[in-house]
Amino acid sequence: MLKDQSGQAVSGASAAALPLYETALGQFHCYTGNPLESAEAAIAAAPDFAMAHLLRAHLYLSGMEAPGIAPALQSIAVARRLARTERETLHAVAAEAWAGGRFDAAAERFDDILIQHPRDSLALQMGHLLDYYRGDARNLRDRVLRVLPAWSDALPHFHAVLGMLAFGLEETADYAAAETTGRRACDLNPRDAWAHHAVLHVMEMQGRTEDGIRWATAREPHWAPDNMMAIHNWWHLMLYHLDRDEHAEVLGLYDRHVRAGKSTVILDMIDASAMLWRLHLRGVEIGAARWAELAEAWAGTVDDGIYAFNDVHGLIAYLGAGRRDLVERQLETLRRTAGRQNFSNAAMTAQIGLPVAEALVAFDAGRYQDCIAPLRAVRSIANRFGGSHAQRDLLDLTLIEAARRAQDLALVRALAAERLHAKPNSPLALRYLAVSKERAAA
Ligand SMILES: [Fe+2]
Repeated sequence: MLKDQSGQAVSGASAAALPLYETALGQFHCYTGNPLESAEAAIAAAPDFAMAHLLRAHLYLSGMEAPGIAPALQSIAVARRLARTERETLHAVAAEAWAGGRFDAAAERFDDILIQHPRDSLALQMGHLLDYYRGDARNLRDRVLRVLPAWSDALPHFHAVLGMLAFGLEETADYAAAETTGRRACDLNPRDAWAHHAVLHVMEMQGRTEDGIRWATAREPHWAPDNMMAIHNWWHLMLYHLDRDEHAEVLGLYDRHVRAGKSTVILDMIDASAMLWRLHLRGVEIGAARWAELAEAWAGTVDDGIYAFNDVHGLIAYLGAGRRDLVERQLETLRRTAGRQNFSNAAMTAQIGLPVAEALVAFDAGRYQDCIAPLRAVRSIANRFGGSHAQRDLLDLTLIEAARRAQDLALVRALAAERLHAKPNSPLALRYLAVSKERAAA
């Protein structure tokens, strides 16, 4: 039986199909090019190539979008009819669990594969993505550490392993190690957009806006063209400018990059919602057209209910656009989802997604006390609905602004103290501190 570049036996592969599969895998590891097209080319070259079908399934699942589930299940069904190794069967089991919304089970099945096959970089990436989607910081780091001894520079996808490790180290606040590891991954493969992104996160968490802008802009030719993470990496660049109160620059980047293509990819729309809401909290004039465009782009997902993190960001766009119809439908989806059985997103929604959605609706309505209470209740467990620390900062930013508007200045002072520990020079945090002191002195 043929083996892939990391030494995994691949059933049904051919000499012609294997390089196409490797191309797809390499593209997926860097989030560049069109790995789906490459995987389908591998399938066309060797229709019995089980891992190529399973890679196609994984690619459809990886974006956490409802329309990806049916094609993923179709590919899993094809793979189930083909000769497979035990490892390949486990890939099918893991993909089925993900497609069925059993994210925790899927994450464990990928771990099962990795314990036996630590060089299976596809299982590692799928598990890593699930750790991200479930906000599992420990496993973002430790899943990678468990396989690390089996890897070396001599293996072709090592950069991807280091890129994932860098992000895991960052999410567990080991910033120095994260930056060193991420930079090493970028040296091995400059096109590795995840590794680049891990370094962006370090600089974001440390408030190093100048370093971050330099890192992002100098490397733009590597991460921006033809990359699925381009918009997210633009979003990170915008966060640095936001930290510096450069609002016009942020809106310019939003128009030129984030919404230039009117993307309906959910991960792209999340970034757009997250940025407009941050600007909105600051009182920046956004304009009805931007909100309307974004709400329209999100509208097709309003009934999906597959992932609370998506739903909350869709809701933000509907609130911004004043689309009460969509706000109500999104809340209905969240309520319905919270009651589902054997579905990971039910707990994510019940514990975090729904209370956060209700808090945002309350903020929008000017009922700031009704915003403060649920956000305070969920903020220390908000990781459970996924995303990164940087993304979930949206909740803390909403809370402190709600506290300011509610004139709860003791709370503003307390929350500003938290923010200043991480970013002692943050103009925003310093403004909140000043507001709380001014009023206290008055
Ligand atoms: Fe990020």
